[in-house]
Order: sequence, then structure tokens, then C-alpha cells
Amino acid sequence: MAAAAPAQPLDQTVVSRWPSAARHVPEARHHLRATLSRWGQLELADAACVVLSELMTNSLKYAKERGRHIETRFVRLRDSTGRPAGLRLEVHDADRAHPVLHSPTPDSESGRGLPLVDAITAGRWGTASRDGIGKLVWAEITDCA
Ligand SMILES: Nc1ncnc2c1ncn2[C@@H]1O[C@H](COP(=O)(O)OP(=O)(O)O)[C@@H](O)[C@H]1O
Ligand SMILES: [Mg+2]
Repeated sequence: MAAAAPAQPLDQTVVSRWPSAARHVPEARHHLRATLSRWGQLELADAACVVLSELMTNSLKYAKERGRHIETRFVRLRDSTGRPAGLRLEVHDADRAHPVLHSPTPDSESGRGLPLVDAITAGRWGTASRDGIGKLVWAEITDCA
């Protein structure tokens, strides 16, 4: 009888770098969905893809340093017992300015992206410094978010 294949260790953090161009946003969404599928957490994909789109689109729009890449990190979260507990998304860009959460009125033509992220993540998002120039924006998506 053939020996059983060894269990594949699951990667816990998936890091990617994307040129700063709009066509890479759908590519990143596909990559996120494929990652969540591999992790057995496809139920998070719809919410996670909306958050990723908003954060990446902001980096494209506001972090306009030429020639710089946008980095995404998908981190698999676990609870204290080791069970899967959702996903942490990070989007790193080369701009030092931090995002600002607005309160758009019904007539506002912009400023809805971060309120959407705030609602989907139940407030579990924020910014932090990163190695090198710029900052990262993080958000957590869990089953109950
Ligand atoms: N990655 C970023 N780098 C710098 N500023 C950002 C970034 N993301 C968001 N911001 C700031 O936060 C504001 C709110 O973002 P958002 O709610 O997504 O609305 P919108 O993209 O429509 O302006 C933006 O207008 C911008 O000033
Ligand atoms: Mg936006």
C-alpha cells in the first residue's frame, strides 16, 4: 500500500506585490478568493473582496508615488484554541498620509469607502506604520462580522 501523502502545512500569511494600476485590483480579488478557498474559508470571500477592493483602490488613488508597488498581506487568524478565526487583510502603500473616516451625507459624491469597510469589519480596521516608506491599512473579517 502506498504511504499516505504528508499533510501540507497551510501557509498562514500570503504576501503579494502589485504594480500601482487598476487592472491589478481584480487580480488581487481572484488571488484572495483562491487563498480563502485553499484555507476552507470561502464564506469570508464576498466581504473580504469588498474590503480589499476599497483599500487597494484607495492606495491607487491617493498613494501616487511613481514606480512604487502596493503590497497585500492575507493573514489567517486563529483563536486561542487554534481554530480558524477569520482573516486579516493588509494593504501597504508608499504614501505617509493616513486614511480619514468621513461621514458622507446622501449628497456626498465620495467618502463612502471607509464607512463601508468600518461597517463590514464592525470597526476592526486601522492604520499602522510599516517597514520602509508609507503605511499599511489593516482590516479583519470574521464569520460574525
Ligand atoms: N491609502 C490612502 N492613503 C492616503 N489617504 C487615504 C488612503 N485611503 C484613504 N485616504 C483618505 O481618506 C479619505 C476617505 O477615503 P474613502 O472613505 O475611501 O473615500 P474616497 O475614496 O471616496 O475619498 C480619502 O478621501 C483620502 O483623503
Ligand atoms: Mg475610497
